[in-house]
Amino acid sequence: MNKGTAIYPGSFDPPTNGHLDLIERGSKIFDELVVAILRNSEKVPMFSVPERLEMLKKLTEHLHNVRIDTFEGLMVEYAKSIDAMCVLRGIRAISDYEYELQMALMNRKLEPTLETVFMMPADKYSYVSSRLVREVARAGGPVRGLVPEYVEQKLREKIDPAYKLQDSQLVEVPLRRERKRKNRA
Ligand code: PNS
Repeated sequence: MNKGTAIYPGSFDPPTNGHLDLIERGSKIFDELVVAILRNSEKVPMFSVPERLEMLKKLTEHLHNVRIDTFEGLMVEYAKSIDAMCVLRGIRAISDYEYELQMALMNRKLEPTLETVFMMPADKYSYVSSRLVREVARAGGPVRGLVPEYVEQKLREKIDPAYKLQDSQLVEVPLRRERKRKNRA
């Protein structure tokens, strides 16, 4: 059976381990998976679209049937333009269901031939969201295990531009509050 191209649309601000888990699962099911970053969101993002594009490209370079792209306007129009047969979305908990159902039905109304397929990420990521990751990181908390190490590094650089990698290794640098405390001492 030809499962064709699927689109996995989202904000990915930033990409989390939950997103990556879903991308890996989706890449096993579909012939091609296009991860599509929304460009014209009304939200003010933490990471620019080029930054998110670069992160997702790097994180998925081992998946040969995964392509990263951006889109603006209606998702169904973009899906049509790349001949996608399905939209992939993740559902973590019941709380996601209402929003996802609304969106899937609206997309079906807009384009009846495009099917939405829901997949569940690994249960260990069921509480992980980009919004909470941003919140924890901004407050100087640990995000290890919630996002790939590469994203963790980008979050640190975003929040504290003084943070630098040493010898391209992710080094343990005290989080903001600990550093401030040290500076005061
Ligand atoms: O990661 P997110 O923010 O939950 O993703 C939401 C996204 C980008 C999939 C959704 O907002 C979207 O598809 N926006 C494009 C505009 C559109 O087509 N709107 C109608 C769908 S209900």
